[in-house]
Amino acid sequence: MDFTLIAHRGYSSRAPENTFPAFDMALEQGFDNFELDAQITRDGQLVVFHDQTVDRVTNGSGEVADHTMEELQALDLATKFEGEGDFSGAYIPTLDEFLGRYAGRAHPHLELKSREAELPAMVAGALKRHGWLDVAGSGTFDAPGLTVSSFWADQLYRSRLRLPNVRHGWLVNEVTEETVAAALKLGFDAVYPRAGTATPETVSHAYDRGLSVRGWGIGDDDDLARIHRSGAEGTTVNWPGEAKAFLEAME
Ligand code: G3P
Ligand code: CA
Repeated sequence: MDFTLIAHRGYSSRAPENTFPAFDMALEQGFDNFELDAQITRDGQLVVFHDQTVDRVTNGSGEVADHTMEELQALDLATKFEGEGDFSGAYIPTLDEFLGRYAGRAHPHLELKSREAELPAMVAGALKRHGWLDVAGSGTFDAPGLTVSSFWADQLYRSRLRLPNVRHGWLVNEVTEETVAAALKLGFDAVYPRAGTATPETVSHAYDRGLSVRGWGIGDDDDLARIHRSGAEGTTVNWPGEAKAFLEAME
């Protein structure tokens, strides 16, 4: 299948999102492209975590940025996980732990999640420390490989200035003439539309201008079918194994 399924926050339908069990499960099931979110703790460390607050997925409460790394790593992630399995050992990884663990065997799609202006430089430093810049020039979804993404154009731009050889993709609601023009002006390599908005025409327009395209925001099989039909190169999805079976049956 010429369409890449990126395990969103790891295989997050089967294990707590953005944890080693979720990323390991993605790799074990044959999905070496996975997405993760990075933000900064109160004590200035990088953490792999999606929400602005810890309330939805842990037994704690409050903003991530108000917790130290030690406090975050002590939180329980198993209790609020709605799927099956015992994940009592799961914890919130540091970005350093993540980059060390998967070096040479995955293609992370690393999202600059929060708005602190220092986040891109901190992430760039971590990527350099762990040797990830050596694989930065590989193909769009090759593993090992690396992509940096963000909804925030300013964060992505700061990152691109520091990491000119790394692929940078801009998460947008919809690909339009304006988003394509802005992406080109800012030197981005890709635009990533929400799957529900993608059409063959908008995706072709981005390709014609030299940008790569993949989707995000898959809620159901209709979204999957739509992003696949649009001609995009892939998408993030919480259930990559089931998505693969669905798309293979559709082809
Ligand atoms: O693939 C990008 C996707 O992760 C963006 O949405 O909310 O899950 O970070 P979100
Ligand atoms: Ca994300």
